[in-house]
Amino acid sequence: MKRFVIRERDTRESVVVCRKNIFSAELAPMRGELLGGGGILFTDSNVYALYKPLLEKYLGGVPVFVMPAGEAHKNEETLFKLLKGMQEAKLRRNSRLIALGGGVVGDVGGLAASLYMRGISCVQVPTTLLAQVDSSVGGKTAVDFGGVKNLIGAFSQPARVIADPLFLETLPRRELKCGLGEIVKHGALSAPLFETLTAAPDLFDLGFLAKIVPENIAFKASVVRRDPREKGLRRCLNLGHTTGHAIELCSDLSHGECVLWGLLFESRLAARHFDTDKAFSDALTSLCFRVLEGGERPPLDLRKALLDKKNTSSGAVTLAVPVAAGQFEILELPFARYEEEIGRIAEELC
Ligand code: NAD
Ligand code: GLY
Repeated sequence: MKRFVIRERDTRESVVVCRKNIFSAELAPMRGELLGGGGILFTDSNVYALYKPLLEKYLGGVPVFVMPAGEAHKNEETLFKLLKGMQEAKLRRNSRLIALGGGVVGDVGGLAASLYMRGISCVQVPTTLLAQVDSSVGGKTAVDFGGVKNLIGAFSQPARVIADPLFLETLPRRELKCGLGEIVKHGALSAPLFETLTAAPDLFDLGFLAKIVPENIAFKASVVRRDPREKGLRRCLNLGHTTGHAIELCSDLSHGECVLWGLLFESRLAARHFDTDKAFSDALTSLCFRVLEGGERPPLDLRKALLDKKNTSSGAVTLAVPVAAGQFEILELPFARYEEEIGRIAEELC
């Protein structure tokens, strides 16, 4: 018997470029290739309303598909409508999808690009802080399904990510806060970034944010390069997310706010199970509260944490938890114990 082995490898190169006003310099030359079935621009209703003149200036004539804004539309219905739009725009195997928007547009657009004709090229143009520092980089794409976040998805690296701080100028403060949630998470995993954040007089200052976007991208890229399919190291990027996603599913807080609450709870949980650095944990707590700007204790329906994709056995919760600047541990707890401990921590914390 002959035996053939096909080793799957993500060989596609993903290039990230980041600079103010780089958007027009990068996209205008692509216009010619995108016309006549060469591509589609995918965005959401809010971004389109704000940037229509700019998009027409540089990408006029390119077919546009606009989804309604918001996480509630990050679902199979939007995905299939977009795929239909791609078919109607006569996209070919060598066509391109430009996903211009926040994490929702990036996740849906990236998934549609990975599915259409078994995969066409995707260019991510992230327009929220969260999307610039996190979701556009690393190739995770998904839609929510059956009440579970990101249940249907694929790893598919974008061909190019164009991160332009210009877009941050129209973001409401709440969306900056959302991106800062992921930035603080990166800080917990990278000692130099943690120092920069704790020393910053104003974490919301746009000049400061424009400076730290590239540092955040570089950090995330360094993790993804070593573990693109989350077999080990990349699990560190889920810090704060297990409890955060459970909060997100039962509150109206944004993803980033939920991650910040998740980080607060999970760093205290870490201290119960590992030898953690108390000074780091205190600094992380004050950083999270600085970004949250107060805020009431969120609702906690922790049973939602059992739905998390990172859990490997039923009835148990698996979390990446911060233990010191730049260090994390993996903690697996039976659900009842996780629920009891987080409940106690919530009482102590707020
Ligand atoms: P979002 O895409 O819903 O954007 C937030 C809001 O800002 C929306 O109303 C949007 O229309 C608006 N907006 C976008 N750009 C704007 C701009 N420049 N000016 C003004 N308004 C603008 O949400 P998000 O916070 O960007 O992303 C959250 C999503 O990202 C979640 O679905 C989350 O699961 C996903 N995510 C994915 C990854 C990944 O690795 N793929 C990582 C983190 C988060
Ligand atoms: N945001 C988590 C990851 O990209 O792995």
